[in-house]
Amino acid sequence: MSRIPLWVKAVGGVGFYAAAAILIKEKLAGPPFDANVELGGKVAIVTGANSGIGYEVAKELAARGAKVYLACRDKDKCAAAREDIYLATDNKNIFCRYCDLSSLDSVKRFARRIHKDEEKVDLLVNNAGVMWGPREVTSDGFETQLGVNHLGHFFLTNLLIDSLKKGAPSRIVNVASTAHFKGKINTQDLNSSNDYSESGAYNQSKLANVLFTRELAKRLDGTDVTVNAVHPGLVDTNIVRNTGTFTTALMLFLRPFVWPFIKNSNQGAQSVLHVALHPDLQHTTGQYFNLREIAEPSKDALNDKLALWLWLTSEKWTKLRETCKELNVQPLTHPWESVSSISAPDSKLKSNTINLDAVNQVSSSSLRGNSMAS
Ligand SMILES: NC(=O)c1ccc[n+]([C@@H]2O[C@H](COP(=O)([O-])OP(=O)(O)OC[C@H]3O[C@@H](n4cnc5c(N)ncnc54)[C@H](OP(=O)(O)O)[C@@H]3O)[C@@H](O)[C@H]2O)c1
Ligand SMILES: *[C@@H]1O[C@H](CO)[C@@H](O)[C@H](O)[C@H]1NC(C)=O
Ligand SMILES: *[C@@H]1O[C@H](CO)[C@@H](O)[C@H](O)[C@H]1NC(C)=O
Repeated sequence: MSRIPLWVKAVGGVGFYAAAAILIKEKLAGPPFDANVELGGKVAIVTGANSGIGYEVAKELAARGAKVYLACRDKDKCAAAREDIYLATDNKNIFCRYCDLSSLDSVKRFARRIHKDEEKVDLLVNNAGVMWGPREVTSDGFETQLGVNHLGHFFLTNLLIDSLKKGAPSRIVNVASTAHFKGKINTQDLNSSNDYSESGAYNQSKLANVLFTRELAKRLDGTDVTVNAVHPGLVDTNIVRNTGTFTTALMLFLRPFVWPFIKNSNQGAQSVLHVALHPDLQHTTGQYFNLREIAEPSKDALNDKLALWLWLTSEKWTKLRETCKELNVQPLTHPWESVSSISAPDSKLKSNTINLDAVNQVSSSSLRGNSMAS
């Protein structure tokens, strides 16, 4: 009696699969961030806010009443994002600001303008990022993935540090990745001049995000400015599409089956919002979050000497101290840096590479200092 035509079965099957896929996708992504946090009067900056995770984060901050600066490298894309966010939230306090993280000069101009326009900053989301692609260098000669993902944000954050202190309690969120687990900091060739691998340079840059987070948290101790790193999950954004991974014929075929397990941009933004806004995390700092949970990062990410080496190298490459002087920003120093006998670690450091022995001496002195204090 019930001779259901094949096409009906097929349509029914596809429909059933689609419905199940949607449920699985939502279930896996978890609930949206819904803590009761009002942001009226708060000033937030989001880098790479015209696309993907950054766009969704900026939109939610705007919906909660924050004044939001979209820090972007493409003026037209930024203006379009601003328009969309304004239409979606009715918040007029959304501003586009040109900020190309592959140019120290651009970052400096951006920071100078924020100093001029704002008394304080309450939230900085270091989100912009590039992934894979052939080796390129930034306008300052840094390998691009390290230059944009780490050095640009290192420089930006440090130049905004006084504004963040004025906003305290304030937060910095660094969007990192599980890719950092495979990352190695190539201390002999940080710039990947001799040996470049597309994914290796990305992995290194994401490990740098976690190391920067930990060293920065130490230097911010006692300021009520917190900094944490977060892995947002696997998210279907331009960063993945730009690599071509999702556009190969095989991927087009596999897409419907992979789709439930990959977050959309809005879902990807929820963990970043959690770390940026959750009231329970007001005193949490120096941590690595896997989605919304504090997690153990890689062994290298916990190496304090490496974190210090990377900080000093980044300071040197970006000429941070000079720029702080120029912009009248108080640079963040380590407790040991005020001890006169070891006050100038730079004097022990040669050319572009910083000798790990120098860092060893410095950190063992600081360890002695700590044990004396305790
Ligand atoms: N998607 C994932 O699965 C995933 C997983 C782990 C971590 N992450 C991290 O999530 C962050 C956001 O990425 P996404 O997935 O949302 O990718 P996306 O959609 O490609 O967004 C990246 C943003 O960064 C901007 N950007 C790139 N280079 C820049 C530069 N030189 N100066 C200023 N802005 C620049 C892009 O601007 P344009 O639009 O002009 O290119 C874009 O707005 C990245 O840090 C990424 O490493 C993503
Ligand atoms: C990084 O490599 C480029 C060449 O690819 C070089 O021009 C630049 O000087 C290097 N930068 C540093 C800081 O070593
Ligand atoms: C970078 O990390 C990814 C996993 O996130 C891994 O598949 C890839 O092999 C790593 N690249 C290198 C050069 O280690």
